Amino acid sequence: MKVNQAEIVISAVSQKQYPKEPIPEIALAGRSNVGKSSFINKLIQRKSLARTSSKPGKTQTINFYRINDKFHFVDVPGYGYAKVSKKEREKWGQMMEEYFSTREFLRATVLIVDMRHKPSEGDQMMYDYLKHFDLPVIVIATKADKISKGKRHKHLQTIIQTLQMEDEDTIIPFSAETAEGKEYAWRALYPYLD
Ligand code: GTP
Ligand code: MG
Repeated sequence: MKVNQAEIVISAVSQKQYPKEPIPEIALAGRSNVGKSSFINKLIQRKSLARTSSKPGKTQTINFYRINDKFHFVDVPGYGYAKVSKKEREKWGQMMEEYFSTREFLRATVLIVDMRHKPSEGDQMMYDYLKHFDLPVIVIATKADKISKGKRHKHLQTIIQTLQMEDEDTIIPFSAETAEGKEYAWRALYPYLD
């Protein structure tokens, strides 16, 4: 997809701040520091519209991006960062629940996992959580640039099996470094953007 326009609408901490515009929405979830913001930036070809960081836990708000005046990408805060207090974890849980249980224009979700590793318990819980809302999940196996071609298949199989992915869901190897998988990711998203 050619992206002519991409802007941040709001960094929200509560529901009353969410955009009211009735356009399709795609949410991005994943472990803290896995590469969610990098994925958005690569897809929309902006270096740093979504803030990225080598420090985990950078994105702590629900960030809505409006793309081509057509749909929203929503960057939700990551999970699984060890140095987070119990209170912060509870706040995170409330934010997620408020978001996922109320967004009627949410069409599909993208779950970003690190292709190098077996999905964490947090990844497994997030996949199940998204399926509990009956949402299609596009699994993006990112940092593919770190895995040799010969090992790809095995790593993808491990992810599919560990998450117990449903047949309707897709997995796409991806790299924000090389742009590998970018077109496949767009293709997987198209059906949900109209
Ligand atoms: P939080 O907002 O903190 O939850 O992180 P995030 O999931 O948005 O991750 P972010 O995009 O900020 O990326 C985290 C780190 O991983 C940065 O140092 C990125 O440069 C790096 N990174 C992201 N994607 C890739 C990739 O495909 N390949 C490689 N090699 N590094 C990547
Ligand atoms: Mg981020």
